[in-house]
Amino acid sequence: MGIETSDDAGVFKLNKETALIQTLDFLTPVTDSPYEFGQIAAANSLSDVYAMGGKPLTAMNIVCFSPKNFKKEILEETLQGGIDKIHEAGAILMGGHSVDDQEFKYGLSVTGIVHPDKVITNKGAQVGDVLILTKPIGTGIIATAIKAKLADKKIRKNIFKIMSGLNKKASEIMLNFNISSCTDITGFGLGGHVLEMAKGAGKNIVLFSEKVPIIEKTKEFVTMGFLPGGAFSNRKFCNPYLNINPKVDKILIDIMFDPQTSGGLIFSLNKNHGEKCMNLMKDNGINASIVGKVISNDEHGSLTIQ
Ligand code: CO
Ligand code: CO
Ligand code: CO
Repeated sequence: MGIETSDDAGVFKLNKETALIQTLDFLTPVTDSPYEFGQIAAANSLSDVYAMGGKPLTAMNIVCFSPKNFKKEILEETLQGGIDKIHEAGAILMGGHSVDDQEFKYGLSVTGIVHPDKVITNKGAQVGDVLILTKPIGTGIIATAIKAKLADKKIRKNIFKIMSGLNKKASEIMLNFNISSCTDITGFGLGGHVLEMAKGAGKNIVLFSEKVPIIEKTKEFVTMGFLPGGAFSNRKFCNPYLNINPKVDKILIDIMFDPQTSGGLIFSLNKNHGEKCMNLMKDNGINASIVGKVISNDEHGSLTIQ
């Protein structure tokens, strides 16, 4: 499986028992703390392996850093944050590569494994499935407010916890069920990634905007005008495939397209197993919610927000 499916990672079958999952992601800093940034960037990179139903084994650093522009402690702390997350995931760091670059960037290339029959793609959703989301959304909006120095310590702490959280446990719980598709929520926002699932499956998917868990203060910041540029381009990109119920709060629609950093998993499964899966998530401290439903076949794929 390669780039043509716009899935989270590439999958290469080695033999009947094992397929390799390979992925690469890197980011510019999303926080002032290098150690926190390292953790967030690593959690974000590892997430694509979890989204494919796999288990990460090894990781390689990718670094763009200029020692002339920044103290080398910044890089050391970032890499330490990354290593700590890699170890939390049960994987190991194998090495890496750095280039001199004015703009600091850091991330990982991660290799994982999965049974070839148990690869979870982003295109298998079935009519009658519900969609479960495992993290609240709003990180792009909150990060914009942080840059404008409008977010207090409590908000920063909360968003760090969300972005640095591994999707490991959520993925393990999800794999106990018969999942038809999965992806992780990143730059295209919830709406963009769900539309990808809808297009991949040739289905119409409905998102229940009121049921989507949203990070505290997100709505307030949107009301104040803090919306990252990516939210506009995401919505514009999705527009030809969108049906929006006119009764939906405009602020909620904006939030649906907020680009996320290290967001949660979203997966589809038969509605009869939705509650059971949700309860298991809750028992394990995961703030999961049923946020949507696969309604009907649709040749081109479409997203309804209601
Ligand atoms: Co992804
Ligand atoms: Co990715
Ligand atoms: Co090299």
